[in-house]
Amino acid sequence: MKALIASGGRGTRLRPITHTRNKHLIPIANKPILYYAIEAAADAGIREIGIVVNADSNEVPDAIGSGSRWGVTITYIPQQSPGGLAQVVALGEPFIGNDRFIFYLGDNLVVGGVKRFIDEFEKSRCNCFLTLAKVKDPERFGVPEIREGKIIGVEEKPLHPRSSYAVAGIYLYDSCIFEAVKNITPSARGELEISDAHQYLIRKGKNVGYAEITGWWKDTGKPTDLLEANRLVLDNITPAVRGDVDERSTVAGKVVIEKGARIVNSVIRGPAIIGEGCLVEDSYIGPFSSVGNNTTLKGSEVEYSIILRDCRIANVGIRLEGSILGNDVEIVEATGKPRVHRFMIGDQSRVELV
Ligand code: G1P
Repeated sequence: MKALIASGGRGTRLRPITHTRNKHLIPIANKPILYYAIEAAADAGIREIGIVVNADSNEVPDAIGSGSRWGVTITYIPQQSPGGLAQVVALGEPFIGNDRFIFYLGDNLVVGGVKRFIDEFEKSRCNCFLTLAKVKDPERFGVPEIREGKIIGVEEKPLHPRSSYAVAGIYLYDSCIFEAVKNITPSARGELEISDAHQYLIRKGKNVGYAEITGWWKDTGKPTDLLEANRLVLDNITPAVRGDVDERSTVAGKVVIEKGARIVNSVIRGPAIIGEGCLVEDSYIGPFSSVGNNTTLKGSEVEYSIILRDCRIANVGIRLEGSILGNDVEIVEATGKPRVHRFMIGDQSRVELV
């Protein structure tokens, strides 16, 4: 059993954060999303992992390395330009060979790992095994049609979904999938769709099984998904205070405070994580917040937000909530007259004011 992980694409739905960073490296609870996929594969006993990366960037290999920290060997497979997930699978063929494998979209997060799916796949001896999750908005995903416990069709982003399930980005295959990905044509959005490859297998009478994801699963396609994924991961963190908390501060609930972080006269209400070297002074950090390394918060309040590293938030009169801040962002009080809002914001940013 090998693993193939997708980490390419442009992440256009997550701009501006993805202008300067591959979306698979956006931290969730202060850890790049892609780490969770690698951990899931390693925890399931997989030792050989192929990661398909954008050919024009070393960002992912630089952030991930050889795999030794997870006890796995990672092979990087370049993709010249985004051409769809079925193309990603086709690129993986020389690495996978005749092995059975798990194909994992690096921007998906699932609680409880993937071993149970691998075990079920192996037991079933299916050619293709899909994982399904109940969602409110199936039209955003690949959607299966199920009759009498069997998948009889899969459609990509259908206008009229035939079930309330999304096909999650965790797929198990044998080498039949390589024939499928070679025999489909690009969709209206110009991509070789993985759903069309699944439809091909069904049409050819291959054995396509499935399991339902009963815990949580998240595809981090849009900004609100990132906040939700962050909430779900933080909900499961193990509290640890490695930094300094002064006697005027209160830390309650599941909170991680990394080494070198200082909490001064503040309230931290978990689940939350505060990165190394942060300073939180006269501030409130509320549930479901992740604060990256070396960020400073003074006289401010933050809740349900993702703040990356080296930010400075000072004396902001109103609580920041549902916010995502990139690296080196400053939100500070305006001083002097006239009393105004003053912005210096890059392309495709979004600000909501009251
Ligand atoms: C892709 C797949 C879709 C699947 C989804 C899961 O969608 O095409 O079938 O349901 O991942 O995350 P995309 O992220 O390309 O919109």
